[in-house]
Amino acid sequence: MNVIDVLTKPFDNQKPGTGGLRKQTKVFMQENFLENFLQSSLNVRIKNGDVLNSWVIGGDGRYPGVEVLPKIIKILIANGVKKVFVVGKDLTAPTPAISNIIRKYNADGGFILSASHNPAGINGDFGVKVEMNNGGGAPESITNAIYEETKTISSYKSLDISDDEALKLNQVEYLDPIKDYADLMESMFDFDAIKSWFKNHTFVFDAMHASTGPTAIEIFVNRLGANRDSIINEVPMNDFNGVHPEPNPTYAKNTFDFMMNGGADFGCACDGDGDRNMILGKGFYVKPSDSLAILTKYHKLIPYYQNGLNGVARSIPTSSAVDAVAKNMGLDVYATPTGWKFFATLLDANKINLCGEESFGQGGDYIREKDGIFAILFWLNILAKTSKSVEEIVREMWNENGRYFYSQYSYENVDKQKAENLLLKMQSIDLNGKVFGDFTIKSKEVFNYVDPVSGEVSNNQGIQIFTNDGTRIFFRLSGTGTIGATLRLYIEKYESNPEKFDIPVLEYLKDVFLLVDEIFEIHQNFGDIKPSAIN
Ligand code: G1P
Ligand code: ZN
Repeated sequence: MNVIDVLTKPFDNQKPGTGGLRKQTKVFMQENFLENFLQSSLNVRIKNGDVLNSWVIGGDGRYPGVEVLPKIIKILIANGVKKVFVVGKDLTAPTPAISNIIRKYNADGGFILSASHNPAGINGDFGVKVEMNNGGGAPESITNAIYEETKTISSYKSLDISDDEALKLNQVEYLDPIKDYADLMESMFDFDAIKSWFKNHTFVFDAMHASTGPTAIEIFVNRLGANRDSIINEVPMNDFNGVHPEPNPTYAKNTFDFMMNGGADFGCACDGDGDRNMILGKGFYVKPSDSLAILTKYHKLIPYYQNGLNGVARSIPTSSAVDAVAKNMGLDVYATPTGWKFFATLLDANKINLCGEESFGQGGDYIREKDGIFAILFWLNILAKTSKSVEEIVREMWNENGRYFYSQYSYENVDKQKAENLLLKMQSIDLNGKVFGDFTIKSKEVFNYVDPVSGEVSNNQGIQIFTNDGTRIFFRLSGTGTIGATLRLYIEKYESNPEKFDIPVLEYLKDVFLLVDEIFEIHQNFGDIKPSAIN
């Protein structure tokens, strides 16, 4: 078998976003599109002086992961990688289980073939996340360098063997990640307490036809004794059965409605690659920002965290509910830009042990990706140890700290140029002291982040506005969309009066929402568009 150089031409659209390179599947299937990106990623690591002995290939099972596997193996071995770990049956595994494999097998990095919660299939999206040896996504310094590399790449390395031969190479080892991951979870949570809870409570877990089904069956059914019927949509499919595998009230509607109608004591769902989660009580929906605050509040009930936390972190658009809880407990709180990769240095340096984002993601220091099943087990552990219901847990937290009313509004698939112009305008405009109806703008700042551990600077991560009544507005452009641009607006407003806690969130925030429309001239810029407001 010989190493060959295959000539190629650069693509101009290979800038990785919030969670790696994500494009429409058809874009990814253009000749050499994937190969260019993989070779560019390896070039950056090699130029950095990193020795790439072993590498992990994983994915959420979406098309065409299995089909491109031989290509990836050939590129890796041709670039000098000695051991390739291929994770999961049909290349299907939750991202957190893949992160665990990278760490456990001391791999030098990995490629995760996933576009997270985006729909899959030939008319859906595909993606590649470049993972580092800590089991987390590459930091911006690396992804920026990869992007530069993709602009000039002229060849990639491969092997002169058939696809079949590539799959059978001695250097390739196939791993089933489920046992390792389930063992890890069992070592962290109080499985005996959760087992008892399952004996007299009802439960539903929605795998959304994606990667988490088999892992959920192993953990919830085989190890914890949940009813087999409580795991639904559990068979992974390479197009996720045509559903949009995003665990939120809109896209996991059946499970959401079932729970809001009192269907079970506890309900939950995970996204396509298993790093996001939705938490539901009987007739009660838990906002992801509140969920992070609650995990923080009850962390000592979890065996893994029984000796306490050093600190917690949230992404900057996430609500401040966790800050209030952490302050009560004397814990440090960090606010990072959007995207899990920004938590990695804080986790590596042991400054934080738990973190989360408003976008249905929480996780901890045991791996470097967010983790849907972890968050669900965390909740089950809390329910089992407190004997309270989901709703009681959330209401108690509101009563103690006040409620942070919070919503995120997304304007999807808007004109990219107009969106970028709006961002530029908002970066430079002076709004301080400006009056909009009943609101006066107290401050407006561009969120520039300096990583407290690495010192790496990430500028222009969004616009933060505070009004005189303490309302916080955050604005940024999505980095995961594949068509046009998506505007993300996040609003939070603090309320201390318990009599107001049951006002529907969107109604409570209605005035601020109108203010946002006015400040950002949304209608003037984009016409009559409506946002989706989900978390
Ligand atoms: C979105 C979320 C972000 C999350 C990312 C990957 O990114 O907002 O919190 O880390 O998906 O799951 P965005 O599209 O906003 O860039
Ligand atoms: Zn995901």
